[in-house]
Amino acid sequence: MAIKIATKILVDGGDPEETVRVKKLLGFVDGQTTNPSLVAKNPEVHHLVASGHRLSLSEEAREYKNIVQTISPLVGTAGVSIEVFANLDTTAEQMLEQGREMFTWIPNAYIKYPCTREGLRAAQVSVREGIRVNMTLCFSQEQAAAVYAATKGAREPVYVSPFIGRLDDRGENGMDVIKNIKAMYRAGDGHVHVLAASILHLDHLFGALALGVELATVPAKVLEQWAGKGMPLPAKDFVYSAVDAKGKTLKPISPKELDLTQPWERFDVEHDLTTQGIRKFVADYESTVQH
Ligand code: E4P
Repeated sequence: MAIKIATKILVDGGDPEETVRVKKLLGFVDGQTTNPSLVAKNPEVHHLVASGHRLSLSEEAREYKNIVQTISPLVGTAGVSIEVFANLDTTAEQMLEQGREMFTWIPNAYIKYPCTREGLRAAQVSVREGIRVNMTLCFSQEQAAAVYAATKGAREPVYVSPFIGRLDDRGENGMDVIKNIKAMYRAGDGHVHVLAASILHLDHLFGALALGVELATVPAKVLEQWAGKGMPLPAKDFVYSAVDAKGKTLKPISPKELDLTQPWERFDVEHDLTTQGIRKFVADYESTVQH
């Protein structure tokens, strides 16, 4: 069954079999996003680690490469996002080195760098070299403004991934960040596409679709629920209910006036959830490898 939907739908996961299952269910999959936590959960990697085997660094890279090479031909034009290893000390040059290598793994790769100063420096060079990028762990409008300014002139769309669920989890309305970024980008040239991420439930998906995001990455579980309901789209008068799982109202995040023509270095890209997110990815990666 084919449905007409402006937003590209990506699977948020690290298991090719899941992608196959979702594709059968929806009739299409536009793309895929992966990250170190999702790779650690891949059944093969998980099985190895659970049986006491730790992967060498090269084995881990081989597993990751194998996962994305299997997924690559299954998906459409939104490609497969592959995340570099980055801790809080990783330099732009170290990220770039990985990004250049990972970009050769598959023909439809997007390289994920974090929305930090080093990640932005790596992205700036990457787009000049023709490497497609997906800027991850975005939690603020400032970070999205910096992504825009750092990647201006990119020949292909740049993705920025604001994480809805992780803001919701601490009582803030993550959907507001998407709304604010979309509104801010109206003054821009359209080279950055908003990829709604950290989608925890169907209402997140509907809210993101209603805001007209270019892409949304969604866990298989939520896509299965969506398929089970016949893949409905939000009605024209859809109103997003900004509440948490317990029905408590989420704190609004106000839009800011930001000038996209400023050099990216002038934007304050610090966000504690970005720092926490990096720490968690490192911990999950470290849980699979031996040094
Ligand atoms: C996608 O690129 C992100 O890595 C993903 O959506 C994170 O989701 P989570 O907050 O549920 O881990």
